Amino acid sequence: MSLAITYSAPLRFAPLPPRSSERFARRPANDEPRGEHVATRDGRELVLRPIEPGDVAALQRCFSRLSPEDIRRRFLHAMSELPALMAQRLCQVDPALETAFVLMDESTTPAEMRGVGRIYVDQSANNAEFSVLVEHDWTRLGLGALLMQRLVDDCRRRNLAEIWGYVLLENRPMLELCKELGFVRRLLPSEPGTAQISLALGKPAKPR
Ligand SMILES: CC(C)(COP(=O)(O)OP(=O)(O)OC[C@H]1O[C@@H](n2cnc3c(N)ncnc32)[C@H](O)[C@@H]1OP(=O)(O)O)[C@@H](O)C(=O)NCCC(=O)NCCS
Repeated sequence: MSLAITYSAPLRFAPLPPRSSERFARRPANDEPRGEHVATRDGRELVLRPIEPGDVAALQRCFSRLSPEDIRRRFLHAMSELPALMAQRLCQVDPALETAFVLMDESTTPAEMRGVGRIYVDQSANNAEFSVLVEHDWTRLGLGALLMQRLVDDCRRRNLAEIWGYVLLENRPMLELCKELGFVRRLLPSEPGTAQISLALGKPAKPR
């Protein structure tokens, strides 16, 4: 978008060049493109961007639309609500140790969150644990794979050795998705019904 600059010089003079403070002024935040537009397979449009502290209300609304099954698959236990403090914490990312991407539906007012993917880095192990969630009405459109691919890319950018996560064995959609992305599955004898799935990123793991 072009910037319209107004000059205060009298019209009978040639316009003065803009002040340096105007030439180099940053555009206001609400005028900046925020994120990347992505189109779903069925032609709907979303914006993919990092999560922001201002996303708390959208995250809570997104949680309120989830089924008990989706909640259990994402958090590995039942939860009836997303407490405000937890929602704030999830939106307040420490960039040194976390990445969280959201898929925002800006066709509504206010914009709604349709998907979230995040990693937590364990620096001592040189790996990161992931989680991902796509709202039910937006599944089977390639969004889960998109979020996972972005998280894998982010782990590679951070030079991590591995990305991994816990997935319930009954969670066929997630297990299928991860298989397609090349993850391997390991059963956890201490956690029946849960698998640890991981993708080696070709970097040496730090000795534990
Ligand atoms: C698992 C989840 C993230 C998948 O999201 P999604 O947007 O539907 O995934 P995609 O559309 O990118 O699917 C990618 C591939 O995964 C597999 N897949 C996804 N959903 C599937 C389903 N219901 N059954 C079988 N395979 C499935 C398919 O191979 C699919 O490729 P295809 O559509 O070309 O066949 C979503 O269902 C979800 O959020 N579930 C609840 C939370 C959760 O389970 N999180 C994971 C634990 S952290």
